[in-house]
Amino acid sequence: MITQPSAKTGGDVENIFCHDYHITRDKRHEINGHRSLVIWFTGLSGSGKSTIANLVEKDLFNRNIHTCSLDGDNIRSGINKNLGFSEEDRHENIRRIGEISKLFIQAGTVVIAAFITPLERDREMLRGILGQENIVEVFVNTSLEECERRDIKGLYKKARAGEIKNFTGISAPYERPRKAHIEIDTEKESVEASVNKVISYILPKLKF
Ligand code: ADX
Repeated sequence: MITQPSAKTGGDVENIFCHDYHITRDKRHEINGHRSLVIWFTGLSGSGKSTIANLVEKDLFNRNIHTCSLDGDNIRSGINKNLGFSEEDRHENIRRIGEISKLFIQAGTVVIAAFITPLERDREMLRGILGQENIVEVFVNTSLEECERRDIKGLYKKARAGEIKNFTGISAPYERPRKAHIEIDTEKESVEASVNKVISYILPKLKF
């Protein structure tokens, strides 16, 4: 069967048709031995998102789970290298990553995404793109004071000096997530405890 997508976003999709693929997501789940979903880490720059995300991926990999990591390094230097940090560009950044994640979960892969994702409306958009049941939101809650104290990339110093515009937490907003499934307090919990918290939440959801 061939169906037409609904035109919601202003793009020219009038003459675009969707095929029903023979190889479905369910079939891929069966052959992989696990379901697919998106684990989305949100938090300030330097909060520890990537550190935890990488260790979560390592743990899942060791359990023979097919994973893929998306973060600023591989996305903002490639497909999104034309985007900056205005509200509009961040919105488009998150939208594209959401759509990429959707393709990956369709292919049966567990996506591990680590992006600041500062606004609730963009997190809401992600739930719309992916479907609520396909996304687990992890709020890496590290205070601005602590991120700034760590300042691993030296960016907070530059932002305070006015050398970087629209810097999240300094000159651009970060809205506290309202619907996170997991909250991690990196100032109180060890990295191992944080990783275990995510893994024990995720594993039952990967079973089918
Ligand atoms: S998001 O807001 O669109 O989700 P994203 O996670 O892709 O941001 O990129 C954040 C990373 O880009 C930061 O960790 C930091 O290294 C770098 N960066 C450069 N400029 C900024 C800025 N103005 N605000 C926040 N992060 C920035």
